[in-house]
Amino acid sequence: MSTWANLGLQDSASPLMEQLIFFHDHALLILVMITVLVGYLMFMLFFNSYINRFLLHGQLIEMIWTILPAIILLFIAFPSLRLLYLLDEINEPSVTLKSIGHQWYWSYEYSDFNDIEFDSYMIPTNELENDGFRLLDVDNRIVLPMNSQIRILVTAADVIHSWTIPALGVKVDGTPGRLNQTNFFINRPGLFYGQCSEICGANHSFMPIVIESVPVNNFIKWISKNMN
Ligand code: CUA
Repeated sequence: MSTWANLGLQDSASPLMEQLIFFHDHALLILVMITVLVGYLMFMLFFNSYINRFLLHGQLIEMIWTILPAIILLFIAFPSLRLLYLLDEINEPSVTLKSIGHQWYWSYEYSDFNDIEFDSYMIPTNELENDGFRLLDVDNRIVLPMNSQIRILVTAADVIHSWTIPALGVKVDGTPGRLNQTNFFINRPGLFYGQCSEICGANHSFMPIVIESVPVNNFIKWISKNMN
């Protein structure tokens, strides 16, 4: 989760988020190189008159400065497409979690395990424990096994919401009447926080998401304790 002055991306907790961070750094590097080059050229323009009485056209230089940026853009476009299709890949999920957005809370269903279902509300500031995170902790956490492929089905009951967990690289819109699918693989234990990221009404900011990532045997214990 983000703490004070943490303006960059959070540390990744899944292979896909790791790839997203690599791609971000790659794109940023290209951006910095272009900015420095163009900045230098524009700055140097102040100190040169660049007047040539006989200059009317320059076929070669115009070919170069048209094709070269196009080639540079390909170095962003291809890795971007690779990631886009990688994010959509589903690899035989072992657990499926259904999350339904409501105004203004999330409800969850573990359809694999005899209908475990519960609502997940934010803990109001006045009811918060001393070690709780304000506007981020919930009363009922999602428990998921680490080192397993997890499928998420997202929908909504009233307006459009968005189920977003930065550390896992997940952001899926929950749309009424539609069922969206995504997947992820959590590669470490811990708590992962997220928030709704589709402007869904007055309390949009107050429907956080908490995932408790645990070893598989702990997950099975939790499941058997909660089965009806
Ligand atoms: Cu739900 Cu914003």
